[in-house]
Amino acid sequence: MKFIRLASIVLLFCASFITCKSIKSPAYTFTKSVTSQSVGIATAHPEATKIGLAILKKGGNAIDAAIATQFALAVCYPVAGNIGGGGFMVYRDKTGFATTLDFREMAPAAAFADMYLDANGDAISELSRAGHLASGVPGSVGGMWEAFQKYSKLKDWKMLIQPSVDLAKKGFRITEAQVSKFNNRKEEFIKYNTSPNQFNSDKIWTVGDKLVQEDLAKTLTAVRDNGRAGFYQGWVADRIVDEMQRGNGIITHQDLKNYKAVWRDPIIGQYKDLKIISMPPPSSGGIFLIQMLDMIEPYGIANHKMHSPEAAHLVVESERRAYADRATHLGDMDYYPVPINELLDQAYIKKRMANFDAQKASISEDIQAGDFAESEQTTHFSIVDDEGNAVSLTTTINTGFGCKVVVGGAGFFLNNEMDDFSAKPGVPNFFGLLGAEANKIEPGKRMLSSMTPTIVEKDGKLSLVVGSPGGSTIITSVYQVIVNIFDFKTSATDAVQAPRFHHQWKPDIVMHESACFDETTRKQLMSMGHTLKDRGKIGRVEAIYVKADGSLEVVADKRGDDHAMGY
Ligand code: GLY
Repeated sequence: MKFIRLASIVLLFCASFITCKSIKSPAYTFTKSVTSQSVGIATAHPEATKIGLAILKKGGNAIDAAIATQFALAVCYPVAGNIGGGGFMVYRDKTGFATTLDFREMAPAAAFADMYLDANGDAISELSRAGHLASGVPGSVGGMWEAFQKYSKLKDWKMLIQPSVDLAKKGFRITEAQVSKFNNRKEEFIKYNTSPNQFNSDKIWTVGDKLVQEDLAKTLTAVRDNGRAGFYQGWVADRIVDEMQRGNGIITHQDLKNYKAVWRDPIIGQYKDLKIISMPPPSSGGIFLIQMLDMIEPYGIANHKMHSPEAAHLVVESERRAYADRATHLGDMDYYPVPINELLDQAYIKKRMANFDAQKASISEDIQAGDFAESEQTTHFSIVDDEGNAVSLTTTINTGFGCKVVVGGAGFFLNNEMDDFSAKPGVPNFFGLLGAEANKIEPGKRMLSSMTPTIVEKDGKLSLVVGSPGGSTIITSVYQVIVNIFDFKTSATDAVQAPRFHHQWKPDIVMHESACFDETTRKQLMSMGHTLKDRGKIGRVEAIYVKADGSLEVVADKRGDDHAMGY
């Protein structure tokens, strides 16, 4: 009798708290959605999710888990996870205090505005996208060290790094998605690397192969033992500078020593009854996420269906207007007076939508900036700990495998983040994004980003932790997930897995995932004047939603190897 009662309690518990939706693959089972009692983590790779969760189980807070996860992703997800790149973190603690950490890469001291132009003044895109000159000074280790000093609960740096040292040493099984990425990039790895490594070798990868990274394990050991100095000084710094000198790079010892992560006040906005807490410049994400939400607020999007012509048209028109402003007004606030208050002013936002026609697409040529400046491989993770502290962290080396250069003897990829600067006004970057004076290259400056790690509060309580990779599509992916949950009232799982679409002012095209619009909607959108283009996957969102009963819906995007866990 006692056993039956116990069994039914366990079953009830499972039914209410462990609703899993999983995908099996030869190397891993990817859990895409799990409902947990109070703790959740979703990342781009099962190994990283497991490492982050183990830290939470040892009593670490969301910051401890974020640090361990950032380093784990550098091992198991080298296409975007990194110690050779940078990122942004939005942190909201259990009391509601919120802050952000900017650990974006910085331009080396020898960088200058025209460094990617030829003698005729034309931009040489390859130089800012591949090879040593494309790399900014990495910020990830500096950022994690800074977060550790300020907010770690465990106060044991070694404990946070050791799992990644072990993972790099003993290796992990690679997934189907990784096989194609490693094999398809081989030629570029051979072209841009100056020393032999696992990626430019003759090996043709197959699913389940083990990736062991001994050099990376040594680098992580130096970071484990010496903290920030283990990366920016000592033998790892020597290897980075040697690597620069073997290629066309300009990063020096002084650049590495001078790197600084910065705490910044979040961008805060109100959308209906929600408080949106997001990333300020050098990210454009927070400002334009809030701008777009505010643009659609008067138009009652909740009266329409998700992906209906009316809803899609309204969202596209807000995206068109926001991205026009992005191209002109955004850059690193430490170098350029970004008009944040003006961009978020309600009267300004209303004016931007004054020429919105519910029946007809605007023409991007007619929309100019207001009057007063990846592959898309980045990665995001979301974490909530058992006290209710939350981390939303997006990190990147820019496009897949960054500048394709692995630091000889140190085993990690360097970023190609310099391409996120405006090499020349009017010349699009990899993501087709345009830029101007605000985002020109200057020594020590941080390049403009679209990364949008975001936390949403409702009634003063934590409601959603969300973010995405995807270059220019990051902001629209986060935007659409928020609208799906809070306007279309979908579950967080459905909000994340729903097809997405994207407009970025120029080119004047609605890019969309194949399953996004049915034939009737397509025809209606085209008759309104929109040009549609099917462009494959958009974004890879990791989200944690706090349900009415306080439990968490932890969601990992189905578009990749992403994995959610919780308890
Ligand atoms: N590198 C992509 C971004 O920061 O937006």
